[in-house]
Amino acid sequence: MDTKNLEKKMETISPFELKNQLIDMADESLKKTARTMLNAGRGNPNWIATTPRETFFLLGQFGLEECRRVMNLPEGIAGIPQKEGIASRFEAFLKKNNAAHGAKLLEQTYNYLLMQHAADPDSLVHEWAEAVIGDQYPVPDRILHFTEILVQDYLSQEMCDNRPPRGTFDLFATEGGTAAMCYLFDSLQENFLLDKGDGIALMVPAFTPYIEIPQLSRYQFNMIELHADRMTDDGFHLWQYNDKDIDRLKDPAIKALFVTNPSNPPSYALSPETMARIVDIVKNDNPNLMVITDDVYGTFSPHFRSFMAELPHNTLCVYSFSKYFGATGWRDAVIALHEDNIYDKQ
Ligand SMILES: Cc1ncc(COP(=O)(O)O)c(C=O)c1O
Repeated sequence: MDTKNLEKKMETISPFELKNQLIDMADESLKKTARTMLNAGRGNPNWIATTPRETFFLLGQFGLEECRRVMNLPEGIAGIPQKEGIASRFEAFLKKNNAAHGAKLLEQTYNYLLMQHAADPDSLVHEWAEAVIGDQYPVPDRILHFTEILVQDYLSQEMCDNRPPRGTFDLFATEGGTAAMCYLFDSLQENFLLDKGDGIALMVPAFTPYIEIPQLSRYQFNMIELHADRMTDDGFHLWQYNDKDIDRLKDPAIKALFVTNPSNPPSYALSPETMARIVDIVKNDNPNLMVITDDVYGTFSPHFRSFMAELPHNTLCVYSFSKYFGATGWRDAVIALHEDNIYDKQ
């Protein structure tokens, strides 16, 4: 196939398919290195965080003890956790296992929720025991009560540099950040906030599915791309945006802005100047601009401030536990939406 035809064919396939084809085309001896290099866009850490897992598995042992306490059949069947007296049994469990891996974080988290959030001990431990055992459909199904409180504080620290805006963020637990984005596109459309043909802006480079989703037949948004194409004088990429491109967001025909911050693959957070410029545009020119931000790499950037911190009323923030915890297989993420937001108002 000549180069022109090959280029045309490549344009019709998805970035993930392209990556596979490039690996197939690589010389056998180069395949291993090619795979390492070409798979980089998927963003799978090659390490894991041990402490949260040790804590989680220790909590799992407690959950099982609680079930066996109620019923313990030799066939491998047990009862379900009971609320009454569960906190004092949990404290005894912590005492008995205080040298176990993960015990310290488990105890600290328990004390944190009791002291900082006046959690009722039995309600808290019962929620944890049922959650880790998984014997009930989760209620509330949006996110469990104490999980929401903990993750709200975590996001204040990691997404808002410990300076969260006033008010609270409602959280929605999802099966990873990718699912979160799918839910958001669907939900915005089902609620008549985005319609076929509406103008949206996508800041690129972005996680590749965001380039493709808006083109699906059920969306067909009118997408403009804002490119991070600023360069140094000697020709190096800065992976930042030109003001004239950012100013296109002043047009109210642009209803939504999709951003990956820090970006993937370059891994650069938006500069404070660009962030300030967008904040200014929303305040003065396009107050109903919906900002959908994927901040899954925010935890790697010291003193990171997400759009959820800077423009809380306009922002839907997606945060995933996949990256910082090396937990892509667990499919754990949240969408954060401020209680006072332009979405409800519209
Ligand atoms: C920017 C970005 N968002 C989301 C994801 C996917 O996250 P999750 O595993 O939570 O679906 C990736 C994975 O590479 C990513 O790079």
